[in-house]
Amino acid sequence: MATVRTESVLILGGGLMGLALAHKLALHGRSVEVLSRRRNEAAGFVAAGMLAPHAEGLSGEQLRLGQLSLDLIPSWVNQIETDSGLCCGLRQCGIVVPFATAAQRDLYPTACLGESLDRSGLEREVPGIGPNWQAGLLFSQDGQIDNRRRLMRALETACVSLGVRFQEGVEVQEILQDGHTFRGVRMRNAEGEMHTLTSHKAVLCCGAWSAQLLPALAIVPVKGQMLSLQGPRDSLKRIVFGPGTYLVPREDGLLVVGATSEPEAGFMEGLTPFGQQQLQAGIDTLLPEASQWPPMERWWGFRPCTPDGGPLLGSSSIDGLWLATGHHRNGVLLAAITAELIEANISGKGITAEQIQVLEAFQWNRFKTKI
Ligand code: GLY
Repeated sequence: MATVRTESVLILGGGLMGLALAHKLALHGRSVEVLSRRRNEAAGFVAAGMLAPHAEGLSGEQLRLGQLSLDLIPSWVNQIETDSGLCCGLRQCGIVVPFATAAQRDLYPTACLGESLDRSGLEREVPGIGPNWQAGLLFSQDGQIDNRRRLMRALETACVSLGVRFQEGVEVQEILQDGHTFRGVRMRNAEGEMHTLTSHKAVLCCGAWSAQLLPALAIVPVKGQMLSLQGPRDSLKRIVFGPGTYLVPREDGLLVVGATSEPEAGFMEGLTPFGQQQLQAGIDTLLPEASQWPPMERWWGFRPCTPDGGPLLGSSSIDGLWLATGHHRNGVLLAAITAELIEANISGKGITAEQIQVLEAFQWNRFKTKI
């Protein structure tokens, strides 16, 4: 079994977190190598790209983390677009959360951070909204990014332009330690050969698969099924975030529809009639006219979920191995702050008191029991 030594920071996982981190570390002058198994399984390609700390009804430390990231996103995107020469499709389009009654609206965890809408306000913000919805909240500060078609490609291009190296089609099989210190990884390369790659520093960002490498991590997969429809351009300006289904209109009229939430499915691949019917029922009640729009694509993926739904950020039980995983429903939103926090954590220099406090709130061992 060959052994290769590198001075680079290893990024274990080539999804959105891995790319965001590789980009940030390279910007800070680090040598970076990304180990990626299969690009299309990354949640960054699956998600709808909502930037929705308020529409998701987050609270406490998770809301704070989401808001910090939302504030960073314009400059983060600007940097990626500058380094890649590609557009990321960022749109601060606002998100409407509809409710059957005003009483339900007023109980929503983030109600005080949105604009209250009655039925006429809902019809103004979402022309054609179904008749069941009598109240709503407009979060004009929330938005979206075109992760699937634009952001992932732009980030990868930006990484390449900054000298990040990629190994595609490789499977990390084991994390190697000297006592409690990270020593490297044992991996199978694209040709099926086993290798040892030694290094002093790595970040684990394997999303839903993270606990396969580090079983102490409290992360399980939560499957989500999605579909898209082609609507007329500008037929829907706001994202509509209904219970169980959301509609995310891209600039060219593509409507991304998500998502089922199936913890019981484990890593079971594929679409199911029940899951797709659930999305169709959501479209019918939220925006009946969209039921006539031509279908484009159907896909699925796996969210990495922790017991409290928040991510695992910062150091691990192994010195030299950091964590950037477990972002559950908010990976696209949280990529910017995750990259910033982990870079600061690795560097140690210039880390602020606020960053230390945030990292403490999302330590991997904050749960009493593993799920
Ligand atoms: N971000 C929404 C979802 O995970 O379905």
